Amino acid sequence: MSNVAASATPSVSGFDVPRHVAIIMDGNGRWAASRGLPRSEGHRRGVEALRRAVRAAGDLGVKYLTIFSFSAENWTRPASEIRDLMGLLKRFIRNDLAELHSNGVRVRIIGEREGLSPDILGLLQEAEELTRANQNLTLVVAFNYGGRQEIARAARRLAIEVSEGRMTPDQVTADAIGGALDLPELPDPDLIIRTSGEQRLSNFLLWQSAYTEFVFLPVHWPDFDRAALESALSEFYRRERRFGGLAAQAGG
Ligand code: FPP
Repeated sequence: MSNVAASATPSVSGFDVPRHVAIIMDGNGRWAASRGLPRSEGHRRGVEALRRAVRAAGDLGVKYLTIFSFSAENWTRPASEIRDLMGLLKRFIRNDLAELHSNGVRVRIIGEREGLSPDILGLLQEAEELTRANQNLTLVVAFNYGGRQEIARAARRLAIEVSEGRMTPDQVTADAIGGALDLPELPDPDLIIRTSGEQRLSNFLLWQSAYTEFVFLPVHWPDFDRAALESALSEFYRRERRFGGLAAQAGG
């Protein structure tokens, strides 16, 4: 059985570790509710799970880890929860940036930056600038992110090129749209993991996930750990990826 993505890197276990893993970190609220705890505690424990995920992904040889940390639609949550989530993001960057940097993690941000508060914007920029030369793992934080909004931004960027005469309409190809996304050099995700048992994409990486494998885990995000990541990778290895072509010939 062939599971070899064009982008995969060989691992010591003999499988090809997916080069880009993306995660929808879902279930913080349910994790908390099932323990009689406030939702904020679920999010706080979610940050701990995020630290475990970054370490495990780096150890396993994943090169890009994209996390859905705050969606463009999350602004509809109660103001107190939004405050909690913003506070956690700020604390995550302030407390963890030095360690991420010393572990060779490069931080990149995708999502709409316009309209973000100056302190959040400053921290996101600081994280990107400090870590820009790191090469072990790229941690892509999808913040104020929506896949449709990202595609619309790309379309607007290309529309400006056309209207100013630097491009013709027939140069607006799929490659051109891919090249106008928030992070054009980001390879498409090989694997998207969603925790908490929900089986939806929820406006995450819509353009980039055309050929992505999806693994839905029954654990809530605060319980995510290295074993959970390894179980998602095991499922990924069982899949056969054909990218629209034919299955590999047996023995071929
Ligand atoms: C989903 O749980 C999680 C989120 C909306 C945000 C993810 C945030 C974190 C893991 C913590 C913050 C980390 C950073 C870097 C900001 P949910 O609230 O949708 O859970 P539910 O579906 O059970 O209610």
